[in-house]
Amino acid sequence: MTFLLLLATLIACAASTEDMSGKMFTFPLQSNKAHVKLITSLREFSSVTVCHRSFTDLKRDHVLFSLATASNSNEFLIFWDEANKELESHVRERKTEYRGMDYKPNMWHSICTTWDSESGLVQVWFDGRPSIKKFSISGSTIRGTPIIVLGQEQDAHGGGFDINQSFVGMMSDVHMWHYILSPCEIQNYVDHLNFTPGDVINWSALEYQIVDKVLIEKKFETCH
Ligand SMILES: *[C@@H]1O[C@H](CO)[C@@H](O)[C@H](O)[C@H]1NC(C)=O
Ligand SMILES: *[C@@H]1O[C@H](CO)[C@@H](O)[C@H](O)[C@H]1NC(C)=O
Repeated sequence: MTFLLLLATLIACAASTEDMSGKMFTFPLQSNKAHVKLITSLREFSSVTVCHRSFTDLKRDHVLFSLATASNSNEFLIFWDEANKELESHVRERKTEYRGMDYKPNMWHSICTTWDSESGLVQVWFDGRPSIKKFSISGSTIRGTPIIVLGQEQDAHGGGFDINQSFVGMMSDVHMWHYILSPCEIQNYVDHLNFTPGDVINWSALEYQIVDKVLIEKKFETCH
């Protein structure tokens, strides 16, 4: 019995590693359950770059990337605020807002966000165009077991999901680095050219776990 329980637990927690090149996660319905957990073994970050591509027609607030630790649920969060038409980055619970992003529905947008703990500066690259650099928080690192979630916004470490902040649509090319990418590397990412994959989250060797209704699909079908 204990063995069966252990086996069931192991199977339930088993994460797969997959080359996701040319693929995407499809989040087909609004829910407070469906999400993907991305797994990394790194435990401390003094600099961060996170890049992702997303496609949605949501007309409400929604999450794009949510990294929580036991101490902060908004340890590193990328969020769209529909009422104010602002993209938000949260680093260690400090919120920074960016205006004037051309966040149109029904098309892919690539968003890269950088933060450095020494300067405390954050910057967002929206479809390859840089925002101004803004101060968020300096002098402390992101530390502890990170839980990285796509599709839901964490208000607790691995939970506390709100259906009205969930993501519906497609997500692809998610990478995370424990350093700041140069503007040229970000441009290469945006243009689908050669770039160094994330050393924290690597879309070409993605360790992930799907919970509830999230599908893996090809990003582009080729017609003959
Ligand atoms: C989500 O939003 C809908 C519509 O605004 C509202 O009726 C509902 O109570 C909200 N649900 C939660 C869990 O906040
Ligand atoms: C990312 O994954 C690819 C495919 O497995 C591998 O060749 C590459 O070295 C990885 N890059 C990093 C930085 O881990």
